Amino acid sequence: MEAIIQPTQEAASLLVARILAKELRDNPSLVLGLATGATMEAVYRLLVKMGRDEKLDFSLCRTFNLDEYVGLSAADSGSFRYYMDRHFFSQVNLDRRNTHLPDGLAADLAAECRAYEEKIQRCGGIDVQLLGIGKAGHIGFNEPLSALRSRTRVKALAPATIEQNAPLFGGAANVPRRAITMGVGTILQCQRCILLATGADKAEVVAKAVEGPITAMISATALQLHPRCTVVVDKEAGAKLQAADYYRWIFDNEPEWEEFR
Ligand code: F6R
Repeated sequence: MEAIIQPTQEAASLLVARILAKELRDNPSLVLGLATGATMEAVYRLLVKMGRDEKLDFSLCRTFNLDEYVGLSAADSGSFRYYMDRHFFSQVNLDRRNTHLPDGLAADLAAECRAYEEKIQRCGGIDVQLLGIGKAGHIGFNEPLSALRSRTRVKALAPATIEQNAPLFGGAANVPRRAITMGVGTILQCQRCILLATGADKAEVVAKAVEGPITAMISATALQLHPRCTVVVDKEAGAKLQAADYYRWIFDNEPEWEEFR
């Protein structure tokens, strides 16, 4: 795992967008794993700008989102399909047929989860997976005690997650209770993971995810097992990292990062 600390939220988001843009330029038919949430809005804004100003080409790119609420249709403003259409899909030259999210309205949810895994496999697996992190440490909706080898399945949302997302639904009572999410094992199988966390309220969980012991109570700690995972944080989210100076030294000296410094 590598941790990169950027001075501001804007700089952290820009670094993530530039990493994704480079991956896409190197492989135009990239299979890109996507996340939703407040943190990612800046990344999508920057990718949309690159599409417009730099002609970043998404026409062959395939996308798979991490998760979707059970019971919400694409037209529901709380659904992740709606979020993705609004912030990203409708604003770049992605072919809508190449964009995938689990169907939260599927009559047979278990079959939908299996089909989602198969679809990822048929595309050759995910090349780069973009991740956020919940305040309690989830990636996707892999809530505390999610098995580290779990696959796409239905999960009940933890009270902390319901609380975190309550403002988007006009109160906790309206937040769906379940979601389909890629499993921790599904995420660990991708070629590369990029986790972005910004803001002071993520500082504690970022320190646990990067420097703490691996535990199913905090699914993000499983990323320590991934051969190629980069955690990008702003100064606030990185404030509780013990070895911050070491991470800065790596970023300043590792040739891989030269073009991003
Ligand atoms: C969303 C997702 C979640 C979020 C996480 C952080 O698709 O999978 O894991 O990335 O809850 O959300 P924000 O960015 O809203 O703090």
